Amino acid sequence: MKNFYVTTPIYYVNDKPHIGHAYTTILADVLARCHRQLGIPSHFLTGTDEHGQKVQRAAEQNNLTPLEQCNQTVVRFQELWKKLEISHDDFIRTTEKRHTKIVQKILQDLYDKGEIYAAEYEGKYCVPCERFFTEKDLVDGACPDCNRPVEPLKEKSYFFKMSKYQDWLIQYIETHPEFIQPSFRRNETLGFLRAPLGDLCISRPKNRLSWGIELPFDTDYVCYVWFDALVNYISAIGYLSDDPEMQKKFNDTWPATCQLIGKDILTTHTVYWPTMLKAMNVPMPTTIFAHGWWLVGNSKMSKSLGNVVNPMEMCDRYGIDAFRYFLMSEMSLGKDASFTEEIFVTRYNSDLANDLGNMCSRVLKMITANLNGLTPEKPANVTEDDRELIDTTLKAISSMTKSIHGMTLDQGIADVLSAVRAANRYFEKTAPWKLAKDPEKQDDLKRVLYNACECLRIVSALLLPIMPEKMAELRRAIGLNQDEIYAQIEESFGNLPANRAIENIKPLFPRIEIPKEEATQEKKKTTEKPSLEEIKLPENVAFIGKEDMEKILLKTAVVLSAEKVKGADKLLCLQIDAGSEKRQIVSGIAPFYKPEELIGKTIVIVANLKPAKLRGIVSQGMLLAASTDDYSTLRLVTVDGEIAPGTNIG
Ligand code: MSP
Repeated sequence: MKNFYVTTPIYYVNDKPHIGHAYTTILADVLARCHRQLGIPSHFLTGTDEHGQKVQRAAEQNNLTPLEQCNQTVVRFQELWKKLEISHDDFIRTTEKRHTKIVQKILQDLYDKGEIYAAEYEGKYCVPCERFFTEKDLVDGACPDCNRPVEPLKEKSYFFKMSKYQDWLIQYIETHPEFIQPSFRRNETLGFLRAPLGDLCISRPKNRLSWGIELPFDTDYVCYVWFDALVNYISAIGYLSDDPEMQKKFNDTWPATCQLIGKDILTTHTVYWPTMLKAMNVPMPTTIFAHGWWLVGNSKMSKSLGNVVNPMEMCDRYGIDAFRYFLMSEMSLGKDASFTEEIFVTRYNSDLANDLGNMCSRVLKMITANLNGLTPEKPANVTEDDRELIDTTLKAISSMTKSIHGMTLDQGIADVLSAVRAANRYFEKTAPWKLAKDPEKQDDLKRVLYNACECLRIVSALLLPIMPEKMAELRRAIGLNQDEIYAQIEESFGNLPANRAIENIKPLFPRIEIPKEEATQEKKKTTEKPSLEEIKLPENVAFIGKEDMEKILLKTAVVLSAEKVKGADKLLCLQIDAGSEKRQIVSGIAPFYKPEELIGKTIVIVANLKPAKLRGIVSQGMLLAASTDDYSTLRLVTVDGEIAPGTNIG
């Protein structure tokens, strides 16, 4: 049987892990666990990307050597994976010898074959960003990232002949629809490949960046971090290894079945990576799957916005399995999803506390109280009510299996939850607590409890890869032994072993309530203002009266479109919906926002400011922003959640 080989991107060790890293790794873990449960031999690789500019810079900022930076940060990833019950088979660090050695072997081979060549590289270089740009990348002649001036720079570099594989790659993608998934990402790559593909610069001169793998054919250079990093997927499993056991491992494991990535690293994985493999004469992975991003509310998660979600904190607050469940059920694979604690608690309380948790306690309590705590025998007959429960449960099995192969996990989970809800309805309808009181109805009682408990057994098997701890606990509680807990799931209803001792466990998912007291205290905290004497104002700032404040009219507005003002580097012209009317505002925020980033944002404007002209363009108002004293950082004031444009602020 073909192995299932799943990989995650390897994470940069410039900072601690966040929810995005946790998401991809949990997803890979769920897929690996599902395949193991199906009896398919699986290999799951994750790791860290430890070379390059980002890591070198972080080390400088932290006053560490690059390797110290790596050693300190890698443990944060490893600790998190342990906490999150990640069941990876291997963890690769790109600073390990087993990796660097193979990268150098590949570089030398490709160089010997003429796939890598030296040439003079000429381009525009942004010193602060330490990046090269072509003329067409520049925005108004400046760096597209930081808006600062660029310098012409010419230097010797090494190039991988990527361009020669362009036609082959297009044809490969077109004839292998499963290669890039979801299909809209496939179109994105094909769109990218419509323009001529250049060769890939794979070297960095050591005098600019020393933290990397040395080129074996020129020791003045290190390897470009992406070329180094992508190789991890094959170096870890024994590509070009001298060890016969590792060679076997490679033959058994490659090609990867599923390489998970985030949408931002699509080009590197669907253009650089396949062309590299082609040049090395290595088969292509079956699928590269790009998932969407976790937004926080509606905003991109970023350090400067201070909204980065720490997975460790979430697990401590709500539990590991609940966190895993939320991430897997809330994101529709491929699309962006929104994270807020409110969304989290709502889903937790509804799916886990009310539906699944409630079902578990009902079944366990009823069996303990009425059947001497032993699971009943399989009933001889099937009623109409039973049929509905059985069908919904069988549908959950097939849907979950389909969703693993089709990468629609949220759908599979939703169907499993439908089975749980069907079981709760079944309980309401058949009312086993009434049957228990009637000596004539003891067989019916056993039938109902058998079916409900069998539904739980199946549901817990389907959710086991997602919530490994809680579902194993539940399976133990219904009397399954260690082998049975992890056994392959059958596609049939009615396999619950009889006469097993039930264990009455604590509620699996206690409801999350924000305690009333805490809520009022929170409120107090925010409403109780310090006395005037307690507030110290900076020099030259005077108190104003309420009447002054009332002169300023603040309103919400939604950005409809935005564009750069020609000839003015700093200005953007925004078209906004201010509720009762559309307006235009010119603002000096171009160094901080790309026009497209602003579209759809709900911002705050001063709505009763006299119109003014900036560079000849009328500006009808002013938008509010927070900026540092030196104007090096500026962020717009936005509202927390949805509210109509034109709403008064006060
Ligand atoms: N080191 C490279 C990958 C090399 S793979 C050969 C890298 N590392 S990263 O640490 O910056 O990002 C790793 C992954 O995290 C990427 O797939 C990226 O898309 C993902 N995420 C980063 N922020 C994210 C969200 N907010 N949401 C979901 N995933 C996101 O890129």
